[in-house]
Amino acid sequence: MPRPDPCRAVIFDLDGVLTDTAHLHFLAWRALAESLGLPFDEAFNERLKGVDRMGSLALILAQDPSRSWREAEKLTLAARKNAHYQRLLGGLGPGDLLPGAADALAACRAAGLRIALASVSHNAPTVLQRLGITDRFDHVVDARTLHRSKPDPEIFLRAAAALGVPPAECIGVEDAQAGIDAIKAAGMYAIGVGAEGALRGADAWMADLRGFESGLGAHTLPAPTALSAALVARTVASA
Ligand code: G6P
Ligand code: MG
Repeated sequence: MPRPDPCRAVIFDLDGVLTDTAHLHFLAWRALAESLGLPFDEAFNERLKGVDRMGSLALILAQDPSRSWREAEKLTLAARKNAHYQRLLGGLGPGDLLPGAADALAACRAAGLRIALASVSHNAPTVLQRLGITDRFDHVVDARTLHRSKPDPEIFLRAAAALGVPPAECIGVEDAQAGIDAIKAAGMYAIGVGAEGALRGADAWMADLRGFESGLGAHTLPAPTALSAALVARTVASA
């Protein structure tokens, strides 16, 4: 898929893209799994990235089909993992932005692009606050109001709608396979953060966000004046 032209919005995932909370989720899930005598390693954790809390728990518990869990027990386990995760978040600060993240957000803003956050984490607002970047976003999707987790496109479509930008004019940025699948299902251009080829279906890959701005061709980052002209043309055409 070619880069959107014009590109009017960039929608970022949070965990593993802007900050390394993906590792903190891993630590908290591993502690829970081990306390239940269930196996858990980095490879298994890859399957949980981008998947919401109860969905992740279901995948972990499914490793032992001989045990069944009542709903109340599952909620208790999820709460235990979340309490551990939140303790780990206590050490998070502005210095924990991943390399290139601050510059990427600034470059999008300077280019007149709209910026949204699409994380299914209920802790996302706290993480943004601790990183000191809450005000960099025009919209943060409220994960508590989602009906379906990634790989469903709901969260990216909600972000685009809130920004008032058609999906075809958005770029999504993700580190998880479920996230790339969600971006593509939403009809957007997908940038995968991670090893090239590791994320199936991504339109482009970056090891991290360093150079994000230079990696975007001039045609994808219309100057504010060109952007306005495109908007006027669209408005006139649809009037
Ligand atoms: C992100 C992470 C997942 C995590 C999910 C829910 O998508 O990639 O690993 O399970 O958020 O996070 P929460 O903070 O709501 O438990
Ligand atoms: Mg992620």
